[in-house]
Amino acid sequence: MILKLSNVPATVVVGGFFGDEGKGKIISYLALNDNPTIVVRGGAGPNAGHTVLDGEKVYKIRMLPSGFLNKNAKILIGPGVVVNPEIFLKEIKDFEASGRAFIDRHCGIIEESHLNQDSKGELKEKIGSTGSGTGPANAERAMRTLKLGKDIPSLSEYIVDVPDLINSALKNNENVLVEGTQGTFLSLWHGTYPFVTSKEVTASGICADVGLGPTNVNEVIVVFKSYVTRVGKGPLENELEPDELSKRGWSEFGTVTGRPRRASEFNFELAKRAIMLNSATQIAITKLDVRFPDSEGKTSYDDLSAEAKSFIKKIEDELGVPVTIIGTGPAINQIIDRRK
Ligand code: IMP
Ligand code: MG
Repeated sequence: MILKLSNVPATVVVGGFFGDEGKGKIISYLALNDNPTIVVRGGAGPNAGHTVLDGEKVYKIRMLPSGFLNKNAKILIGPGVVVNPEIFLKEIKDFEASGRAFIDRHCGIIEESHLNQDSKGELKEKIGSTGSGTGPANAERAMRTLKLGKDIPSLSEYIVDVPDLINSALKNNENVLVEGTQGTFLSLWHGTYPFVTSKEVTASGICADVGLGPTNVNEVIVVFKSYVTRVGKGPLENELEPDELSKRGWSEFGTVTGRPRRASEFNFELAKRAIMLNSATQIAITKLDVRFPDSEGKTSYDDLSAEAKSFIKKIEDELGVPVTIIGTGPAINQIIDRRK
């Protein structure tokens, strides 16, 4: 039997800048629209914050996959992710995910000591960490002293073999949606070190986190916001002043920490590098409506203004990858899906 490379129905979604690109909304849409039987999360840990707006309801999610709105899908956390049991159990309750949310037996566990280490000193002050204990837990994992999911009695009913589940689903030709967290330039390997997170978070890293091999990925969607934002410390080229941000309507606050986000214009050089590092096959652009208010709520590309279209076209021309999904507002259905 000859197995054609990359012909399995796995889609990986990652951030192209510094996190907070709006992956949560894109992933919710894909989870509801593409009928995956599994939505699986890679990435660092509960330092992530995704906002999902479903009708009137706003979900701020840190631990579970943002694809949880699809009630027919299993929502899994891969072995590369460190888990805070308290947040995991609370989100299962708050988001009605009981019976379909599981973690891998090899997920590292965040304990009180990690939270303490992350809330003061170098990590907090120099790097501007989220204080979620993610970095100290990953450090302990590298030291081979971190507890794993299978060691924690209160988690026993939630423990599964994630790599086995997703690879079996792919063999059955079921869709699997793999969600990344953070963003390309927060990668421990490829980002603006030392102002980065404690994990590799490009598409390859996210796949390794969940146990998906390199020939088992069909589509890699890199998500860019229409402008660049960054929370915490570290370089941000051509950073705009807070006054300018509020004038443009680009002021934002972090989902996890509430800190104001710094921002700059869309950075084509960074974006090109993100396309390269992630081997992107598609681009998703979010918050087009923030740049072009007349695009708000549009669901058809043809209905965009000439200016908005030329922004999208410039991205495609410069980056050489199609922009297939465009966010035109915070709600899940405020989206243009050009794959159809
Ligand atoms: P840590 O990951 O909590 O150690 O934080 C390291 C750096 O990454 C800080 O600048 C954080 O603000 C940033 N960071 C970590 N996770 C995210 C995220 O999900 N979105 C945006 N920034 C993040
Ligand atoms: Mg976020």
